[in-house]
Amino acid sequence: MLVIQKIADLRQALVGKQAVALVPTMGNLHDGHLSLVKLARDSGAFVVTSIFVNPLQFAPQEDLAFYPRTLEVDCALLANAGVDIVFAPTVEEMYPDMQGFVVEPPCELADILEGEIRPGFFIGVCTVVVKLFNIVQPSIAVFGRKDYQQQLIIKNMVRQLALPIELWTGDTVRDVHGLALSSRNNYLSESERVQSAQLVECLRAVSDYVRSGRSDWPEIESEACDSLRRRGWQVDYISIRLCEDLGVPRRGEPLLVLGAARIGATRLIDNLEI
Ligand code: PAJ
Repeated sequence: MLVIQKIADLRQALVGKQAVALVPTMGNLHDGHLSLVKLARDSGAFVVTSIFVNPLQFAPQEDLAFYPRTLEVDCALLANAGVDIVFAPTVEEMYPDMQGFVVEPPCELADILEGEIRPGFFIGVCTVVVKLFNIVQPSIAVFGRKDYQQQLIIKNMVRQLALPIELWTGDTVRDVHGLALSSRNNYLSESERVQSAQLVECLRAVSDYVRSGRSDWPEIESEACDSLRRRGWQVDYISIRLCEDLGVPRRGEPLLVLGAARIGATRLIDNLEI
């Protein structure tokens, strides 16, 4: 496995590779990331994993400086998982100039839910993802359903910009208590970690209500928020949406419930298809 920092070196290493599968990450890898790598591996393509903590998708008050950076351990995990190349550029390599050209996703997808709480977040994500696509030129790129809104926006971007890339989505990997694995779980104290599965439990309860025939969506959502708040969570949203485009729910259509909430200083997001 090669670990490459420079765009020019990566392009050189990819000359002649027919099919490349890219798994973009911000590192501090866990079994969720590795499950995406496995999907890429199983495609039979040459596998590139990128590790880049993208400053463009962090707001000034967010955790850019504290975001865990564990390149050596990550590379050992990726070598073991059969990755061919790790692309781990520096910030200067990715953004030699102030990034003036950006990719701006439409507000109906990008200014709701995560985008409402984190303005500009999806501009940062789309811009770095397009840049990684241009650098690596993969035929397959793999994203996690854990960040449902992110993968949906990227799917729309690929379609509308006619990028010649097949997008694959991997299921959310969870710990034994149901907590979705996330690099930000490292911020949790012991007691917060025990409590943290309450988020997915709450999403499961919402899902059960909807499956049992309730369609008073706003009422279900506010009951769910209240139940988390009573247990000490600061809730950003619990929202029932259409799977297709995250629009307001309609009876008989595929739905999912998305949630984002803070426990102590740690912000967790999760979703479940209903
Ligand atoms: P990061 O949070 O490192 O996640 C990288 C990929 O792993 C994303 O596609 C994410 O959805 C997926 N992932 C995270 N937790 C997962 C879990 N528990 N199970 C399965 N997949 C999981 O998402 C980003 O980085 C960045 O926004 C990025 C796309 C790399 C752009 O900077």
